[in-house]
Amino acid sequence: MSLITLTDPRSPVSEAYRTLRTNLSFYSLDHPIRSLVVTSAAPGEGKSTTVANLAVTMAQSGRRTILVDCDLRRPSLHTLLGCQESPGLTNVVLGEVEALPLQQTAVDNLLLLASGPKPPNPADLLGSKKVDQLIAQLMEQADIVLFDAPPVVAVTDSVVLGSKVDGVLLVVSAGKTRRDHAERAKETLAKAKVRIVGVTLTNAPKDTGLGSYYG
Ligand SMILES: Nc1ncnc2c1ncn2[C@@H]1O[C@H](COP(=O)(O)OP(=O)(O)O)[C@@H](O)[C@H]1O
Ligand SMILES: [Mg+2]
Repeated sequence: MSLITLTDPRSPVSEAYRTLRTNLSFYSLDHPIRSLVVTSAAPGEGKSTTVANLAVTMAQSGRRTILVDCDLRRPSLHTLLGCQESPGLTNVVLGEVEALPLQQTAVDNLLLLASGPKPPNPADLLGSKKVDQLIAQLMEQADIVLFDAPPVVAVTDSVVLGSKVDGVLLVVSAGKTRRDHAERAKETLAKAKVRIVGVTLTNAPKDTGLGSYYG
């Protein structure tokens, strides 16, 4: 496991993840965000790293937290958390398991629903009624449910999923995310009436740590 919030909780980067957690809790006091998708424009911009570290800090603050790997194309949360890829979400949607296959992690209060076997049609699967039921079930068992998802510009999965949750956090990688891709991601989400609750910057220069802002 190489999650910095676990291995080096006192580092500036871990502190930045806690700031992100705090900003999200203050985002809407009357309707707190209880389900959040983390996505970005393109692959390799830090979605999985961000959602996993954010989940760790939320669990560390005592909230019952469930992390769900909805990047059914390139699942990685199970690796980051030292868990197994299957059984997971696809098994639930296909009706192959009785109980939700939530995996314990090394972190108190943090459970993982891994991806499960790769399906041929991730967007259709995520758009299904079964996933609505699954999200409702997860919300009963957790204070906050965080979803990892594929990039917005490449495929429609994040838009589909984003419309089922309280909000979407957009990851932008300094020096990597293309401006036009970031704009297109924002427009694509906005067109589908998905609520973008914030933007977080990854890959920021080391001396300034990981910055994040909200508007
Ligand atoms: N905040 C960050 N600062 C610097 N590098 C990062 C940060 N977050 C992730 N990375 C690195 O970027 C790469 C891609 O991260 P990952 O979370 O797998 O991206 P994605 O899920 O968007 O494909 C990894 O090598 C990861 O260690
Ligand atoms: Mg990823």
